[in-house]
Amino acid sequence: MPGPSSTAFIFELLCRGGVQRLHEMQVHGRSRFGPLWKARFGPVLTVHVADPALVAQVLRQEGPEPRRALSCPWKEHRNLRGVSGGLLTLEGEAWRGPRRVLAQGLLRPGAAEAFAGPVATVVAELVARLQRLQRQHPRGIVPDIGTEFNRFGLEAISWVLFSSRLGCLGDTGEAIRATDGVIRCVGAVLALTLVTMALPRPLLRLIPAPWDAFCHAWDQLFAFAKGHVDRRVAEVAARGPLAEGDTCVTDLLAREHIPVSSIYGNVTELLLAGVDTVASTLAWSLYELARNPGAQAALHHELVAATATNGATNGDSDSATAAATAAALGRLPLLRAVVKETLRLYPVIPANARVVSDCDIRVGDYLVPRQTLITLCHYATSRDSRFFPAPDAFRPERWLRHGDTGDTAGDTAGDTVGDTAGHPPGPRHPFASLPFGLGPRSCVGRRLAELQLHMALAQILLRFEVRPEPGGGRVRPMTRTLLAPATPISLRFLER
Ligand code: HEM
Repeated sequence: MPGPSSTAFIFELLCRGGVQRLHEMQVHGRSRFGPLWKARFGPVLTVHVADPALVAQVLRQEGPEPRRALSCPWKEHRNLRGVSGGLLTLEGEAWRGPRRVLAQGLLRPGAAEAFAGPVATVVAELVARLQRLQRQHPRGIVPDIGTEFNRFGLEAISWVLFSSRLGCLGDTGEAIRATDGVIRCVGAVLALTLVTMALPRPLLRLIPAPWDAFCHAWDQLFAFAKGHVDRRVAEVAARGPLAEGDTCVTDLLAREHIPVSSIYGNVTELLLAGVDTVASTLAWSLYELARNPGAQAALHHELVAATATNGATNGDSDSATAAATAAALGRLPLLRAVVKETLRLYPVIPANARVVSDCDIRVGDYLVPRQTLITLCHYATSRDSRFFPAPDAFRPERWLRHGDTGDTAGDTAGDTVGDTAGHPPGPRHPFASLPFGLGPRSCVGRRLAELQLHMALAQILLRFEVRPEPGGGRVRPMTRTLLAPATPISLRFLER
């Protein structure tokens, strides 16, 4: 199998900033070596797969309990500290129990709508904050919207996980400072993951600062989550059965007798997974809509029409109304298409991975030995011009071409690998853009993320017209474990 030499690859990663350009290296790798190549990432040899048909071939052979990694710094941290992990790091039997409970509580159709009331309240706080910030600026500019959306993400996920209100979006400097500490820890974990993974172990022992900072950030996140879980468990014990509509993920896990150590591990990892993912997607969506006024006008039109016909964009936070609003928003074709197109251009997880454990598998013309790490190059496939003409252009309408809602494999919670139900005919390949993964190990927070994105985009765009910052340049993505904006995104918000 072709591929770069180990020295060339490690030099590119560590000396030429390749760790932050891993997404671009997928595209270069494909044009240089073809759709399959091997490379050594730190101590691990990995096979890169950069063609949708081959991605499909790998996922169809992954089995009922897929693994994402052989070993990784996140698992090393759990082992070192003797703490339990969550869905991101658990495997096999230990993963199956919490996965079942969390999929039932978050992923089953309609389940995420149980959290629509809290999300609607947090969206209203976000819109009020954006309004305060744009009014403070003579030209209505809100600087660094990514930071604002991180605060939104943390406020929303903390309510969903522990029924806790943090005040991230309020005016209280103290609350904002405290919660910004949590956001910094999430950022540090993401920024240091790839570095700690790529550095050879002897070098990491010689220069321990990155590893120490990485573990410290995880420790802080575990301590934060534990404090909130303990408070919630004590509150429920004191109050007796919960009122309908007052439930959170901690309650779901506790009710199913998941051990408390596993609850800590799971909610900590959900916290990590729930902040930057939603925040960057929201920031990229508004960035692209600001640069594409035609698409923004069409989406605004759809939202206004939906409000006129059935109140679909009602910003009410009463639980039943909010759930109905969330369901109605989830049916708006252009709103869904905007989120899909944003995630095609900026897949939050630019490369996913699988380890095929129990047997060798065939991928293309090769037999890949068992226990090999396989990197699925989603960034390269979702910018492949064979499947997406003008691949770097933001064109939400490409998801509407066939007059349906643009469903792709994995759109329905029960979809299995290989499903193409609802997928329109045409050159697009159902495995070319898989932003939430697919199959038994797919994103458990997908429905909640979509609900937050739909509700936030609807309320922001009904309230503001969003324009680029005058003189602001192009913002490029960078890999920071997740795909994030390389420089802060600032936008102009004009009240409608
Ligand atoms: C735009 C937002 C998001 C995107 C694009 C995204 C994407 C992904 C992807 C690609 C995976 C790997 C799937 C696979 O291996 O097949 C994943 C896993 C996961 N995500 Fe998300 N995610 C998002 C938001 C969230 C949120 C809000 C949460 C928490 C509520 C969450 C929790 C998780 C968890 C726990 C896993 C591991 C699932 C498992 O291994 O069983 N994600 N996500």
